[in-house]
Amino acid sequence: MAAIPRLPEGFVWGTATSAFQIEGAVDEDGRGPSVWDAFTATPGKVRDGHTAATACDHYHRYEEDVALLRRLGADAYRFSIAWPRVQPDGQAVNEPGLAFYDRLVDAGVTPMPTLFHWDLPQALEDRGGWLDRDTAHRFAAYAAAVADRLGDRVRHWITLNEPFEHMALGYALGQHAPGHTYLLDALPAAHHQLLGHGLATAALRAAGAPHVMLTNSYTPAIPYSGSEADTEAARAYDTLHRRLFTDPVLLGAYPDLDGFGLAGPLPFVKDGDLDAIKAPIDGLGVNYYNPTRVTVPEPGTTPLPFELAEFEHVNTTDFGWPVIPSGLTQTLLELTADYGPALPPLWVTENGCSYDVEPDADGRIRDQARIDYLEAHVKAVAAAVEQGADVRGYLVWSLLDNFEWAEGYHQRFGLVHVDFATLTRTPKDSFDRYAALIAEQRR
Ligand code: FCB
Repeated sequence: MAAIPRLPEGFVWGTATSAFQIEGAVDEDGRGPSVWDAFTATPGKVRDGHTAATACDHYHRYEEDVALLRRLGADAYRFSIAWPRVQPDGQAVNEPGLAFYDRLVDAGVTPMPTLFHWDLPQALEDRGGWLDRDTAHRFAAYAAAVADRLGDRVRHWITLNEPFEHMALGYALGQHAPGHTYLLDALPAAHHQLLGHGLATAALRAAGAPHVMLTNSYTPAIPYSGSEADTEAARAYDTLHRRLFTDPVLLGAYPDLDGFGLAGPLPFVKDGDLDAIKAPIDGLGVNYYNPTRVTVPEPGTTPLPFELAEFEHVNTTDFGWPVIPSGLTQTLLELTADYGPALPPLWVTENGCSYDVEPDADGRIRDQARIDYLEAHVKAVAAAVEQGADVRGYLVWSLLDNFEWAEGYHQRFGLVHVDFATLTRTPKDSFDRYAALIAEQRR
């Protein structure tokens, strides 16, 4: 295969994980329950009733996991901080919870913590969760508490992970915690997360944070056909998925939501909110997995102005997600073109694939499909850089096979295989390939 072009000097290579998906130890050292503990305990919500009570046991094995990162040659480790460990009731600080992240930060690979990766303290959900404006203020107070403790060693902060998915899957469709099915009435959960991002950014700055980012998911919206109706449907999808979560942050305004039957000012947006949301950031995190094919719905079938469709004749991962690396180039270039000077540097904060490859007779995990996926997507980043996108880093989702939300342990995204019965870690072939790629890039 053709060599991978060299990314610019100083480009950051690493991996990403999230607290609820790997830590386990849900009852230890004063951690409070999160919405995901409640959701996983509800029959029928997670495939095969899997819970994350133990997950990868990262809480106890973090040193082994950070040693794997060092062996990989990773520059950075994106992990998330569990809000219910730090503030079990969403308010009072729990010292032993903070102490865990203190140890993790000191373990030795440049830390890039995400403050919220979907595990809201259940106590805050009981007060309305992200539908309640007060959650945004609580989030800022939590950010301040974490920064106060870790800010002397953490330089790179990420406020939220994928507020679109959290709103859509958690509040609109009920496929993720907290399991609400409010459809378009879930929109305040978007605004309050964004407000939380802005207020937390200010709190981080006040604590001296030099580098703050927001991580969104991005997916090019591809019209099903060349018809005007499909093009319009794709535009509507792009408005909801991308513009709704990017325009307020970079431009200080919400996109026009007329197509969603929401003409006029949004009632939950108060004076000054957009100024808070537009707090300058130093980078925008891009999580990319695949493009989304969009078509116009049959009349009367949905309250939304679009419907999602399958791609034909493309390879898919074991999750059924289409493998289309050019979509990553497209994503990075479209952000660059559409936001111009308002766009901060981009970071690919997640990219990866689910393939279920078990150890062979020699104990080796030959996950060539993941190698192909990663090589193709790193090349896609290089292509975007060559065409003018300012991209500073690339983090593979994920270091470890882990608890994949509603799919339980069925989707394996790791560079490292985890045997969930014994918790043994085994680096896969893709781990070695990624280590070699990082080393080649540094030569
Ligand atoms: C992203 C999530 C991450 C993981 C990957 C597969 O949407 O941020 O936690 O589940 O998908």
